[in-house]
Amino acid sequence: MIQVKDLNVDSLQCTITFVYEDQQTDSNILEKMKAKKVFEGKSGQIFYRTTNDLNYEIFVGLGKYEEVERNDFVNAIAKAMKQAEKLNVDNIGIYFIKVNGLCTGATTKAIVEGVKLAGYKFNKYNKGKESYNPYVTILGAPKEKAEKMVEKITEASNVIDGVILARDLVNEPANILYPETLAERAALAGKESGFEVEILDKNEIEALGMKAFLEVAKGSIHEPKLIVMRYMGNPKNNEKIGLVGKGLTFDTGGYSLKPSTSMDTMKSDMGGAAAVIGTMQALAKNKVQNNVIAVVAACENAISGGSYKPGDIIGSMAGKNIEVLNTDAEGRLTLVDAITYIIEKENVEKIVDVATLTGAVLVALGTEITGVISNNDDFYDELLVAGKRSGEKFWRLPNDKCFKKLYKGDFAELKNTGGRNAGTITAGMFIEEFVQDKPWLHLDIAGTSWTDNGNDCTPKGGTGAPVKTLYELVVKHVCKHSK
Ligand code: BES
Ligand code: MN
Ligand code: ZN
Repeated sequence: MIQVKDLNVDSLQCTITFVYEDQQTDSNILEKMKAKKVFEGKSGQIFYRTTNDLNYEIFVGLGKYEEVERNDFVNAIAKAMKQAEKLNVDNIGIYFIKVNGLCTGATTKAIVEGVKLAGYKFNKYNKGKESYNPYVTILGAPKEKAEKMVEKITEASNVIDGVILARDLVNEPANILYPETLAERAALAGKESGFEVEILDKNEIEALGMKAFLEVAKGSIHEPKLIVMRYMGNPKNNEKIGLVGKGLTFDTGGYSLKPSTSMDTMKSDMGGAAAVIGTMQALAKNKVQNNVIAVVAACENAISGGSYKPGDIIGSMAGKNIEVLNTDAEGRLTLVDAITYIIEKENVEKIVDVATLTGAVLVALGTEITGVISNNDDFYDELLVAGKRSGEKFWRLPNDKCFKKLYKGDFAELKNTGGRNAGTITAGMFIEEFVQDKPWLHLDIAGTSWTDNGNDCTPKGGTGAPVKTLYELVVKHVCKHSK
């Protein structure tokens, strides 16, 4: 629970104050600490003490005013919250501070994000680890902005709940979360927040002709589900944006089996699905006035006597034939049928697909930048604007036609892999063959949707990326106050 108010500080158990290295404060104690170099407000520095009333004061350094970026501020908040958690306080005041380039609304959103994400834990199966949800009051905010800030707190809180839902879904193991239970979780989110969820079973998927999707699914005892989510926030307008999330609830690699060291995190291969479900929840809770359709072709890539095999030639909903050279390049097979479905049956104008698609994107961009392939410069620019607002990072890779020869088929129109070279690009361009020239963004989140190390905002596991950006991309309103 987060509120904006000017309270008597004595009623709080703890206050958090942000300090710039290169700015004077009006606090004697802070200036003394700076002079004595006990605490100088450097980036990453933290200091706390008890006051005479036996409450705590936490000071967090931000570094130099001009150098602080949005994410640095969020991380500083999270760092302070981790300290507050250790001090076991549950009634905290955070002093509002001006951050370079952020308007009051954006600063408020950043505070909500830092506070809520620092408290997140996936503790369903580890009851000793309690999540931390203290009572937080934002102090010293500009009075005339208070009302607006309350609105922003609600909006940001709903978005972060979407991030948290995505994390929870990714962290859930594959023995609990399989296509049917993933669909149930989506249906629950829809019911609680206000979007429609339709779940299509194997027979219905067959009737639609989603042959590529069915091939990937056929080795598993868990039947595939096509999860269709509809949110019509502006029913008078018939323009719809389409989100497609990769929903492999587990990826063994199939007969092109993964080595066990790269299989243990493959419960996270539905990170794209988790992100689109989290985004739909955030949009619906905030009653955003846009129309969005999200589709997840949920299945498991498993081995059995009935699995698809390397060398198989398979069909697809779009009618193109595909030679399966590697059963571990399964994501694109499920995605292209989901894309054909969302274009032909849901009539979307634009498409964003989100997928843990290639290990190659980790090699190219690491764990903090999502790789992008797009057929449309304007749509990509919109993504960059959304990313600036959300603090999530993106980088576009070229979809030059010189790559086409790598995945054009010998025995069928297409091959499902283009080999090791340019793996993220050929995977994206394979999908592009199915988007029918609609404005399209492909987000390869294999590096960004999971963290092994974690930080103050994100424990090991699902990160919830890129829910915040997808939300901003749909909302698309530009804040006139920010610099
Ligand atoms: N789900 C994996 C990609 C992945 C790798 C996600 C690491 C998260 C972390 C995907 O299905 C896959 O196996 N891709 C192959 C493609 C290759 C066979 C062309 C890969 O990246 O090795
Ligand atoms: Mn795979
Ligand atoms: Zn996969």
